[in-house]
Amino acid sequence: MRVAVTGGTGFVGSHLVRALAEDGHDVVVLARGVRRGPKRERVTFIKTDLVAGDGLVDAFTGCDAVVHLVAIPREKGKQTFDLVNRVATERVATAAKQAGVRHLLHQSALGVDPDPSYPYLASKWAGEQAVRGSGVPFTVLRPSVIFGPGDGFFTVLARLVRLTLLTGLIVPVAGNGRALFQPLSIDDMVRCALIALQRDPAGATHELGGPEHLTYDELVLTVARALGARRRIVHVPVRVMLPQVFLMEHTMRNPLVTVGQLRLLDKNNITLLNAVPNAFGFQPQRLADNADYLDDY
Ligand SMILES: NC(=O)c1ccc[n+]([C@@H]2O[C@H](COP(=O)([O-])OP(=O)(O)OC[C@H]3O[C@@H](n4cnc5c(N)ncnc54)[C@H](OP(=O)(O)O)[C@@H]3O)[C@@H](O)[C@H]2O)c1
Repeated sequence: MRVAVTGGTGFVGSHLVRALAEDGHDVVVLARGVRRGPKRERVTFIKTDLVAGDGLVDAFTGCDAVVHLVAIPREKGKQTFDLVNRVATERVATAAKQAGVRHLLHQSALGVDPDPSYPYLASKWAGEQAVRGSGVPFTVLRPSVIFGPGDGFFTVLARLVRLTLLTGLIVPVAGNGRALFQPLSIDDMVRCALIALQRDPAGATHELGGPEHLTYDELVLTVARALGARRRIVHVPVRVMLPQVFLMEHTMRNPLVTVGQLRLLDKNNITLLNAVPNAFGFQPQRLADNADYLDDY
């Protein structure tokens, strides 16, 4: 196949592009080029801002499938949720239609919801609607939080756990730490995408998660154990943490967490425990058995 992957230089994208190329597919990667993966055979890079949408029809022409991964979990300057997560998805869907693409695999997120009080989830919801209305045969994948080398969630937790050497080994957790997550390994995420690409698109939406529901507290403790660190959790009411996070968000170039992300930590992010075996026929891996990579962060 010839597959275009938008956001192919990001966390999910770099793993997926490597797997596609290793499986013998030709891959066209589209991104702005802030990060660039290693050059590899069978992979062509096109530098483009999807919000402008220039050159997309040309890039997609001759592709059997488009995998749309571009999205942002936090806003920064011109990169707003509305422009990147909704408008850019509309541009991709429209261009895929014009280019005659036969399968649009859209990466969404578990918990998408039109409720505007969670702007990230609402913008991802709007992106899904653009795909559904495009007239291009599609598959939607909605994963829970994904772990693996290069991720932006567990590696940040690892840094936080290390930082707590300075705070007497106490990890502050916003809220009650009881919200549930269902971590999915990047290898399993990629495996689902590859299987979906081999199938005919049937307009299906698949929620994806790993084999366990873990509370946020359990995620923190699993990360600490993987680092060989003993830590104690102290719960801090969200309203106490909000002003500090707000300050961090508005003064630091790369804040550890934003107000929007803090609020999302209070929301369950789970699906059926057998979601992946049911839809894709294999058993996904546990976080605790696959967290060694965190030593490198
Ligand atoms: N990571 C998770 O745990 C997780 C969980 C659920 C759902 N998802 C979904 O999975 C997808 C991939 O996530 P990820 O973690 O791999 O994200 P990521 O690492 O932040 O990668 C984002 C990619 O999008 C590109 N990009 C950003 N803005 C762009 C723009 N305006 N025009 C063109 N390219 C742009 C980035 O490259 P440049 O900056 O160079 O442009 C990069 O290649 C997203 O749709 C996300 O919502 C992720």
